[in-house]
Amino acid sequence: MDNRPQWGTRAGFILAAVGSAVGLGNIWRFPAVAYENGGGAFFFPYLFALLTAGIPLLVMEFTIGHKYRGSAPLSYARLSKKYEWIGWWQVAVSFVISTYYAVIIAWAMSFAGFSFSLKWGDDPEGFLFGSYLNLAEAPGQVGSIVPGVFIPLVIVWVIALGVLFKGVKKGIEIANKIFIPALVILFLIIVVRALTLEGAAQGLDAFFKPDWSQIASPKVWVAAYGQIFFSLSIAFAIMVTYSSYLPKKTDITNNAFITGFANSGFELLAGIGVFAALGFMANQAGVPVSEVVAGGVGLAFVVFPQIINEFPALNGLFGSLFFICLVLAGLSSLISIVETFVAGVQDKFKVSRAKAVLYGGGLSAVISILFATQGGLYFLDAADYFINQFGVALAGLVEVVIVAWVLKELKNLQNHADSMSDIRLGGWWRVCLGIITPVVLGYMMVQNIITNIKDNYEGYPTSFLLYSGWGVAIGAIVLGFVFMSIKWQKNTLEIPEKKEVSQ
Ligand code: ALA
Repeated sequence: MDNRPQWGTRAGFILAAVGSAVGLGNIWRFPAVAYENGGGAFFFPYLFALLTAGIPLLVMEFTIGHKYRGSAPLSYARLSKKYEWIGWWQVAVSFVISTYYAVIIAWAMSFAGFSFSLKWGDDPEGFLFGSYLNLAEAPGQVGSIVPGVFIPLVIVWVIALGVLFKGVKKGIEIANKIFIPALVILFLIIVVRALTLEGAAQGLDAFFKPDWSQIASPKVWVAAYGQIFFSLSIAFAIMVTYSSYLPKKTDITNNAFITGFANSGFELLAGIGVFAALGFMANQAGVPVSEVVAGGVGLAFVVFPQIINEFPALNGLFGSLFFICLVLAGLSSLISIVETFVAGVQDKFKVSRAKAVLYGGGLSAVISILFATQGGLYFLDAADYFINQFGVALAGLVEVVIVAWVLKELKNLQNHADSMSDIRLGGWWRVCLGIITPVVLGYMMVQNIITNIKDNYEGYPTSFLLYSGWGVAIGAIVLGFVFMSIKWQKNTLEIPEKKEVSQ
């Protein structure tokens, strides 16, 4: 009999999966990506990527985790001993992401506090890079630790690791049952407020107006796939790990559809809220919306403070609500990201959960201090870009090619999912994973590699990109093989009997 932890309820699992998916990617990345890639016309490639890659891969990862009942490395090793490295590679990718993701949540935590006094003043950009981050002059310089980032960073780690110490049911499940409903309620308040601001319609018009001229551009399709992968936490080792805690009887396919649509629903809501607010800001400044749009760091930590400055009333309250939403969305994703290596370490080295959290989570927390230094933003930017392009997306491509073509496992996985799901997976599922996804992702990867070899990302110096970007992405693959070379303890690769509990 197996003594693997198990979710308390089906809703608990779904909330945890949605909590992992809904993260910083939904709020600060999606709106700008959609806008820059054709606005309303972006929904076509976005939906195509969701339906042909996102949800099918989610079904596949849920099935692998459920069938092989292990962390990603253990599940892949049980699927085929030769391919354990894919699991470790994805765990290493998650490890890298956890180190900087925690820092962005720390900024959001600080900004939730700053909102009350509008501490950024009239020049939020100068405040972010100057007074707050005390940014180093050039990429590669480390400088000293920035206390304003370091202190909230410690709080972020205490919360995330505290939840993980408590385990799957008492920690992760309960945290998500609190964080996700709170996030949805707070975010709805913000969106409704944004929609009633003067100029909101102008913002929505800019967001939804289709620019069909861009639809044939490969860049747009690359952006849609990239967004879906990051946002759904695919190829992060997360969904395999989370589904390994499912009981024997559970509706895998339905769970995947619910998670996929809930995540995209939240993403759309974020797009509407953000653009309504941008419309308001453009209206106040008397400029077109295109002049006020920004993505990533710029959107959340420069443009939003500007919008909050302009708010007609209750600026501090709405400002802090927005940043609290970022913190909640970020924390539930960070917990899932760290759980991948906690579970991997536990399975491989047969150590207690507490030790795995302490060593795995502790190491990530220590490394994250690098991003809390004066040079942190440059390192963060390079690591984020390269680990997404050549970590997440590449690991997703390799995963699908090996499962579909090398191991020819799609039919077996389909039978497993069908044996316990209401929705039966038709041949479409195998076509999506066996043909469409590898072709589109493969093309995207080749394009990406060419672009990145030709032009340095953001014009950063080559030497800096070699160690902080390429080195990090390649290092994750190397780590996959290093961990695979360590032997499993006796009998670990046998799949244990599952408890007979249905959800
Ligand atoms: N899926 C998480 C996000 O969107 C990682 O941020």
